[in-house]
Amino acid sequence: MGSPAPSASLHGKRILLGVTGSIAAYKSAVLARELQRRGATVRVVMTPGAIDFITPLTLATLTDHPVYSDFTENKDSGEWTNHVELGLWGDVFLVAPATANTLSAFVQGSCDNFLQAVHLSSRCPICVAPAMDLDMFAHGATQSNLARLAERGVGIIEPESGLLASGLEGKGRMLEPEAIADWLELWFHDRAPLKGQKILLTAGPTQEPIDSVRFIGNHSSGKMGYALATALVQHGAEVHLISGPVQLKVPAGVASVTNVQTAQEMMAAASENFNTYDIAIATAAVADARPKHSAAAKLHRNELPSAIALEPTPDILAHWGQQKAAHQTVIGFALETDDGVASAMGKLKRKNLDFIVLNSTAVKGAGFGTDTNQISIFDSDGKAHKFELKSKTEVAHDIVQHLLNHLTT
Ligand code: CTP
Repeated sequence: MGSPAPSASLHGKRILLGVTGSIAAYKSAVLARELQRRGATVRVVMTPGAIDFITPLTLATLTDHPVYSDFTENKDSGEWTNHVELGLWGDVFLVAPATANTLSAFVQGSCDNFLQAVHLSSRCPICVAPAMDLDMFAHGATQSNLARLAERGVGIIEPESGLLASGLEGKGRMLEPEAIADWLELWFHDRAPLKGQKILLTAGPTQEPIDSVRFIGNHSSGKMGYALATALVQHGAEVHLISGPVQLKVPAGVASVTNVQTAQEMMAAASENFNTYDIAIATAAVADARPKHSAAAKLHRNELPSAIALEPTPDILAHWGQQKAAHQTVIGFALETDDGVASAMGKLKRKNLDFIVLNSTAVKGAGFGTDTNQISIFDSDGKAHKFELKSKTEVAHDIVQHLLNHLTT
C-alpha cells in the first residue's frame, strides 16, 4: 500500500471499522483502503453475518491487522478478544454497512455478538452507514431507531437512492466508500479542536537583495513551517500562510498564501490585520540584516563593493509579541547551532511569547533541509518539554498537541 499523501486529511486518525451482514459489506474492503489512503489507521470488527459476504482474510490483509468477529481468539486455549480495549482504541467507531438488525441492537443495547459488545464498551463517537432494502429503510421501526441513535449523538451517514440488491430502486443503498470517507473528513473537521481558530504563520527563508540577481539568504527549506501548516489545517484551523521563496506545494486546505521575498515584505504582510488572528506562529528563518543599498541592476564584477554595509531587518515576531492582545497566542521558533537553551529562553522572554520551539543544528538529522527534526518546547513559565528525533510531519503534530494543551489550560 502506498504511503498517504502528506496532506492526508484523516492523518493520524484511528478508525475502528465495523462490518455487518449486508451485501454492501463487499464495499468495506475499498472503504478500509480509502481510509488508509487518507492517512487513517484502520482495525476491523465483523459480525458473524458479515463473514458470509466478505472474508476476514481480505480485510485483515488490507489493514495489516487481525480482524475480530468472536469473543474467543482460540477456542482450545480459551484466549479471548478484548472488546474493551478495542472500544477504547478508536477515535471513531464507524459501522459501514450497518444493517437494520445492528441498528436495532444498538438502540436496545444488545450484546449478542462481538461487534455489539464493542459498541457497548466504546467511549469514542459512533457513526453508522445504514445499508438495506428501501422498505426496510423506510419502515417506522428503522426510522425511529435511527432517530434514537441520532439523539444519542451517533452520526448517521444517510444512504442514497439507487438500484438495490433486491432489484428494486429507492433509498437504502450505502454511500460509496469515497463518499463515506469524505463524510467522515467533514465530520472530524466539524469537531476538530482548532475549528474557528484563525492562524497566521510565517515560513521559509527571506532573501535580501544585493542587486537584481544576488541576495543574502539562508538554507531554510520551509519544510517545518509547511508541515505545521498541514497539521494545523488537519486540526480544523483557518491557516493564513506568509511564505518566503521555497520549492514546496502549498498544503491543501490552507485559507490563503502571501508570497514574499524580503523581511520587509514579510513584516508588511504579518502586520496586516494582526489583531484579527487568534494565533500567530513564526517558523520563518528571517534574514537578520539586509544590504543598506541594493542595486537595481546586476553589478558587474568590477563594480562589486569590497564590503557590503548592512542594516537590521524588522523583527516580525517581536512586533507580534508587542502587539499581542489577551486573546492571542504567539509562538516562536529558535534555530541554534549549539544546545541553544539559554538563547531560546532569552527569545521567549524578549519577544513576549507563549511558547518557543527550539531546534538545534548540532543534532544530527535536525535543522534546515532535512525531513526530520528534534525539538524542545519551552513554555513562558520556563517548563521544558523534550521530544525525540522524528519526521517533520510528526514534529508538527507534537507542536499542535502542545498548542491544544496550551489553549485548554
Ligand atoms: N524572527 C522574526 N523576524 C526576524 C527574526 C526572527 O520573526 N527578523 C522570528 C523567527 O521566525 C523565529 C524567532 O524569531 O520564530 C527566532 O529567530 P532566530 O533567527 O532564531 O533568532 P533571532 O531573533 O534572529 O536572534 P539571533 O539571530 O540572535 O539568534
